[in-house]
Amino acid sequence: MTDLSGRVALVTGGTRGIGLATVRALVEAGATVVLTGRDEARAKEAASAAGAAAGLALDVTDAKAVSSLVRGVAKEHGKLDVVVANAGIMEDALLGMIREELVDTTLSTNVAGTLHTVQAAARAMMRKKTGAIVVLASIVGEYGSAGQTVYAASKAAVANIAKSAAKELGRSGIRVNAVAPGVIETDLTAGLSEDAKAENTGKTPLGRLGRAEDVANAIRFLVSDEASFITGQVLGVDGGLVL
Ligand SMILES: NC(=O)c1ccc[n+]([C@@H]2O[C@H](COP(=O)([O-])OP(=O)(O)OC[C@H]3O[C@@H](n4cnc5c(N)ncnc54)[C@H](OP(=O)(O)O)[C@@H]3O)[C@@H](O)[C@H]2O)c1
Repeated sequence: MTDLSGRVALVTGGTRGIGLATVRALVEAGATVVLTGRDEARAKEAASAAGAAAGLALDVTDAKAVSSLVRGVAKEHGKLDVVVANAGIMEDALLGMIREELVDTTLSTNVAGTLHTVQAAARAMMRKKTGAIVVLASIVGEYGSAGQTVYAASKAAVANIAKSAAKELGRSGIRVNAVAPGVIETDLTAGLSEDAKAENTGKTPLGRLGRAEDVANAIRFLVSDEASFITGQVLGVDGGLVL
C-alpha cells in the first residue's frame, strides 16, 4: 500500500469524478489533502465526505486566485508536496460549428488553468526542492477525436505542459507527469449515448469503460516515492483502448 503519510496535497476540481476519487485515494494513503471546486459549498461538502482537510472555492481560470490559494495552502500546512491539476471541462463541437466562446472557455480552463496551477505549485515546491505534480491529459490529446478538436487540442497542450515542466523543474527535485485517461464514467462522459459506450467498450481489450478509481490509483502511484525516478511521462489509463 502506497504511504503518503506526512504529505500535503492539493487536488483541483476535487468535488466529483476523477478529482474526488483522487482525493479519496490520497487520503487513504495518509496524506493531508485540500480540494477545490468552483462552488464553496460543494467543495466543503466533498471535502467532508472524502475526509479531506479542507474544501475551498477556486476557479482555475483566475491566475491570481490560483497563485494566492496555493500559497495559502503551503503556508497553512508548512509545505506542499503534491499537486494534482485535475480541473477540466469537455464540450463537443464539429468543425464549422465551433463557437469562439467554446474555444475561450476550453483553453482558459484546460490549458491556462493547468498552467496557472503548475506554475503556482512550482513556486511553492521550489523552496523545499521536492514535490510531485500530476496533470490530466487525455487519449484524445494524442490520437485526436472527431467532434472534439478543441478539447483534443487543449489536452495535447496539457501533455506538453507536463513534459516541459518536467525538464525545467527536475533539477529542483520536482517531478511532473500526466495521466491520459480513456473513457472514464463520470459526469464528463455522462452524455455519451449507450451506443457510444458499447462501441468504446468493444474496442477496449480489458472489456469495460474506466472508473474514476482506475485513474486515481495511477495518480497516487505517480505522486508517491515508488515513482521517484519517473518524470515527464504521459501514462495512459485506458484499458488498452488506443492499442
Ligand atoms: N472522464 C473522462 O473520460 C476523462 C478522460 C480523459 C481526461 N479526463 C480529464 O480528467 C479531468 C477530470 O475529469 P472528470 O471526468 O472527473 O470530470 P467531471 O466529473 O466533470 O469533474 C470536473 C471537475 O473539474 C472542476 N472544474 C471544472 N471547471 C473548473 C474551473 N474553471 N475551476 C475549477 N474547477 C473546475 C469541477 O468542479 P466544480 O464543477 O465543482 O466547480 C469538477 O470537480 C478533466 O481534466 C478531464 O478533462 C477525463
